[in-house]
Amino acid sequence: MKFSNLALPLLASCAVAQNSTNPNSNTTIIVTNDDSWASANIRSLYSELKKEGYNVFMFAPAVQQSGTGGTFNLPRAANLTKGGEFGSIPVGAPNWGQDDNDDHIWYFDGTPAAAMSFGLDYAIPRLFNNATVDLVVSGPNEGWNIGPNIYTMSGTNGAMYMAVLRGIPAIAYSGMNSHQYYANASTSDNAAHNIYAKAATGIVNNLVKNAKDRATLLPYGVGLSVNLPRAGDVDPTGQCKEIKPIFTRQTGPAAIVLKLSYNETTNRFSPGITNSEASKACLNGDCILPDESDVVANWGCYASVSVITTDYDAPRDVAGEVQFLNRGEVKFAPRVYGSFAPVEASPYF
Ligand SMILES: *[C@@H]1O[C@H](CO)[C@@H](O)[C@H](O)[C@H]1NC(C)=O
Ligand SMILES: *[C@@H]1O[C@H](CO)[C@@H](O)[C@H](O)[C@H]1NC(C)=O
Ligand SMILES: *[C@@H]1O[C@H](CO)[C@@H](O)[C@H](O)[C@H]1NC(C)=O
Ligand SMILES: *[C@@H]1O[C@H](CO)[C@@H](O)[C@H](O)[C@H]1NC(C)=O
Ligand SMILES: *[C@@H]1O[C@H](CO)[C@@H](O)[C@H](O)[C@H]1NC(C)=O
Ligand SMILES: *[C@@H]1O[C@H](CO)[C@@H](O)[C@H](O)[C@H]1NC(C)=O
Repeated sequence: MKFSNLALPLLASCAVAQNSTNPNSNTTIIVTNDDSWASANIRSLYSELKKEGYNVFMFAPAVQQSGTGGTFNLPRAANLTKGGEFGSIPVGAPNWGQDDNDDHIWYFDGTPAAAMSFGLDYAIPRLFNNATVDLVVSGPNEGWNIGPNIYTMSGTNGAMYMAVLRGIPAIAYSGMNSHQYYANASTSDNAAHNIYAKAATGIVNNLVKNAKDRATLLPYGVGLSVNLPRAGDVDPTGQCKEIKPIFTRQTGPAAIVLKLSYNETTNRFSPGITNSEASKACLNGDCILPDESDVVANWGCYASVSVITTDYDAPRDVAGEVQFLNRGEVKFAPRVYGSFAPVEASPYF
């Protein structure tokens, strides 16, 4: 799907060809995000992964899709009515298509989970010899995705959760820089998007180097949610240039959830933040680990690496409390006992 009126500058790193002497050339990676295929963060990460010799593809939304979580929205029309983010795709272009300068870079007019699936289920099987995808990386998002709140909210993390559920190891990255068009973004080594790309690629390199084979990159049902600190040109201290990873957890004292705020003067609603015993509680995993919300904001030049699972069932000792039918006293028994209507299978909800 090429269209001649789309002129995008060649990325310098496209010149690095894959070759059989590079041990990474047999590892296929899909890059996606929610800030669109034209954002500086994703283009920089794509380039950096290519420099390492990976077989990299980008399948990312045509336009900004922040806050769409794991929703699976597909194109509604055959052609783009508003064009691509930052004018990167002309109005009227097909709802999916390829960068004129790189046949591994594609946009899709849908949410991140859908754009990634366009790669997995359409483009790679049909156009790229049905290559096996070893890893999905999503981001880096323009803004942190911290705390358990993000698992339903973040489009970046939504694509990661979806990939993990498909049995593909996946990492979501989020940073703290702003929305920028890649073609106009700084090429300085001190630009946050370039520092983020290096840090994110470093974590991929570690996983790949330590894996025995494809199946040991990450365990089934397990993904990573990584938040990158303020760095380079968005770091007020000017100190953070080489980001170090540290294991963290999503819950903890600094983990927030959203609430609704109402302004009496303007009569407007806006999202506010709160926390609760539930947002702080460690019910799963290693409770010794520090809280990612604290680490990324206050610990300096560390990337928080939280290990997540798509098995959302509560752990047994917590779930045991829910066996209300066998117990006399519970604080949270439902007030109404209804009956379950028959479930009609539908892929949409
Ligand atoms: C092949 O990959 C190796 C290892 O990364 C690199 O040193 C070499 O320059 C590459 N060769 C070509 C022709 O790209
Ligand atoms: C990118 O830079 C060009 C040339 O300065 C300018 O015309 C264009 O509006 C900029 N695009 C964006 C999205 O900032
Ligand atoms: C819409 O996209 C299709 C390809 O999907 C293309 O053939 C057609 O020309 C486009 N229509 C318009 C009005 O641009
Ligand atoms: C791609 O490979 C998968 C797994 O081996 C297989 O199930 C599928 O049929 C293949 N699809 C195509 C289009 O060849
Ligand atoms: C790629 O090949 C190397 C050996 O060169 C092997 O160790 C590694 O497991 C392979 N990776 C994948 C994803 O198959
Ligand atoms: C409500 O909105 C007004 C006007 O924007 C602002 O000045 C005021 O600080 C807001 N009040 C609160 C409690 O946020």
